[in-house]
Amino acid sequence: MNYRHGYHAGNFADVVKHVALVVILQHLRKKDGAFSVIDTHAGRGLYDLRDAAPIATGEAEGGIARLADLAAKDAPPALGAYLRLVNECGRQRYPGSPLIAANLLRPQDRLTAIEKHPEEAAILKEVLAPFRGAVAQEADGYARLVRLLPPPSRRGLILIDPPFEATGEFEILARTLATAIRKFATGIFLVWYPIKSQSAADAFIGELLAAGIAKALTVEIAVAPPSERLTRAGVLVVNPPYGFAAEMLATAALLAPRLALDPARNPATIDVNWRAGSE
Ligand SMILES: C[S@@+](CC[C@H](N)C(=O)[O-])C[C@H]1O[C@@H](n2cnc3c(N)ncnc32)[C@H](O)[C@@H]1O
Repeated sequence: MNYRHGYHAGNFADVVKHVALVVILQHLRKKDGAFSVIDTHAGRGLYDLRDAAPIATGEAEGGIARLADLAAKDAPPALGAYLRLVNECGRQRYPGSPLIAANLLRPQDRLTAIEKHPEEAAILKEVLAPFRGAVAQEADGYARLVRLLPPPSRRGLILIDPPFEATGEFEILARTLATAIRKFATGIFLVWYPIKSQSAADAFIGELLAAGIAKALTVEIAVAPPSERLTRAGVLVVNPPYGFAAEMLATAALLAPRLALDPARNPATIDVNWRAGSE
């Protein structure tokens, strides 16, 4: 396990993933009934952008830093809430998915954030300690997820955001997602994936859908043509809430012009599409 999210925190892919996360959580908050969030690959929860890792890559400069001119009050609701949360962390720090989720819990809601790396898990425990409904667990996210489903609330979101560093990650993800959906068919599942090539991403999505999902929505962002570095990424959402696609499209109109690496020559694109499965 060499991956450390600190190198990538706040990059363009985090921005899109975290806005999608907030859109879904805001939807779940509309009803009084409790919801559960399970974050299978949680990271440390809070990233200091002055650390050596983010400075070395400068990825936040091409992501969250590009949104500095956006006023939360003028943005669609989820983007506005996301910007407020980021601002509350201070200019030099960036919140990870478990901290974003913890901030959006109501007293009746629960978050289980799972992280396998011991050092990251230890920091995550400290970061989540102030949140009564949130718990951090040091464990394998795939195995623990299957044990935790269905959540007692029977409403909720599963975020699966692996590092994709191990060979076979796509396979274990597809297998776990199929099992998880069988155990919690009404759950909302948000899966992040890198796009090294569109054909590889399409094959991955096809594999996920072939595992028994009728359809899923994808949101894919490209900030530059394919290259050695990551310039494209996506999220796949199973059971997206009503209004999710419309809000992501409204958000895309504000994000795309800001996140392009070279806007004059290669404008960024954010595509929202339904993908049909085998059922
Ligand atoms: C992409 S990062 C997570 C970022 C986080 N979800 C966010 O958006 O802020 C992936 C994390 O998964 C952890 N990890 C790797 N393999 C894991 C596994 N099998 N179970 C749980 N965590 C794992 C890594 O240590 C890393 O912190």
